[in-house]
Amino acid sequence: MKDKFHRRTATVATVLASIVKPAAYLVILLLTYALGYLSSSRSTSSFSSSLSPLPNSDITPSYYSSPPQLFQVTDTPTHLDQFRIKTRCSPPIPHRQVRLTILQNVFNGKSPYIGFPPPHVAQLLHPKKIKGWGSNGAVFENLVRQVKPRTIIEVGSFLGASATHMAELTRQLGLQTQILCVDDFRGWPGFLDRFKDLSMINGDVSLLYQFMQNVVAMNASGSVIPLPFSTGSVLDSLCEWGVYGDLIEVDAGHDFNSAWSDINRAYRILRPGGVLFGHDYFTSADNRGVRRAVNLFAQLNGFKVKVDGQHWILVSS
Ligand SMILES: C[S@@+](CC[C@H](N)C(=O)[O-])C[C@H]1O[C@@H](n2cnc3c(N)ncnc32)[C@H](O)[C@@H]1O
Repeated sequence: MKDKFHRRTATVATVLASIVKPAAYLVILLLTYALGYLSSSRSTSSFSSSLSPLPNSDITPSYYSSPPQLFQVTDTPTHLDQFRIKTRCSPPIPHRQVRLTILQNVFNGKSPYIGFPPPHVAQLLHPKKIKGWGSNGAVFENLVRQVKPRTIIEVGSFLGASATHMAELTRQLGLQTQILCVDDFRGWPGFLDRFKDLSMINGDVSLLYQFMQNVVAMNASGSVIPLPFSTGSVLDSLCEWGVYGDLIEVDAGHDFNSAWSDINRAYRILRPGGVLFGHDYFTSADNRGVRRAVNLFAQLNGFKVKVDGQHWILVSS
């Protein structure tokens, strides 16, 4: 009886094993497949959807290498210091060398006003067309009288309204001042809608030529020099050449990032005792981007912000 029971149990076990074993293999196979699929789909989507920048430019971008690499960026410091421009500039050159240094480095040693205007442009220019925004405000006279600048750097010049105004002020005070006008002279996309009487020449808005024409008309070509490139590249070059300003006005891009970058770059090339100021503390562009940049810069560097009309001025606290 006992033997019979054992034999039956053994038979049942054999039958069960023959059913369960393949089923177990099947379950394990399915689990392995499912896990593999899940892990591969997670890493692919995080790679394609994350915008993590490469932590340093020495690393070959992932699209050159195979397979794609992921970099751990969580340990990159995120405090504000990361956004500041810390390159050290060359020591300041004497004021009397500023004009020559610019002509040599930017214009092959020749004044851009020689032979100006070229014949193909002359017919398109207005004898004088100056339009600015608060460009004759009292702040200019106040600061020129206070600082008596030998070198002025204007970041954003447009048609030269504020630059020629400062040229006139320095002339009245008998100062030998050079005014360096940093502007790509492209305005902004679509600005010709508001300045319909400026000409477009093969896609170029002719702003540089009209600026130069205005400077010539104001008899200021001996003191006002255009630097027709992006603000970032010019301010970095001035830093490299040791060209510093006694007075620096920032009035180019009015969004936070542009203003922040221009202010930080400009501050590096401000002479000791000089004044950094700028326009549009009150505009609503980019949710008061200029004001946010100015206030943040002042706070981080221990300055106070003084307001004069539409202009902001950084003063020691
Ligand atoms: C508001 S206007 C300057 C007005 C001038 N300060 C005045 O009062 O007559 C701004 C100028 O900044 C220039 N600008 C803006 N962003 C620039 C950039 N990133 N690089 C060079 N110029 C820029 C534009 O071309 C434009 O002429």
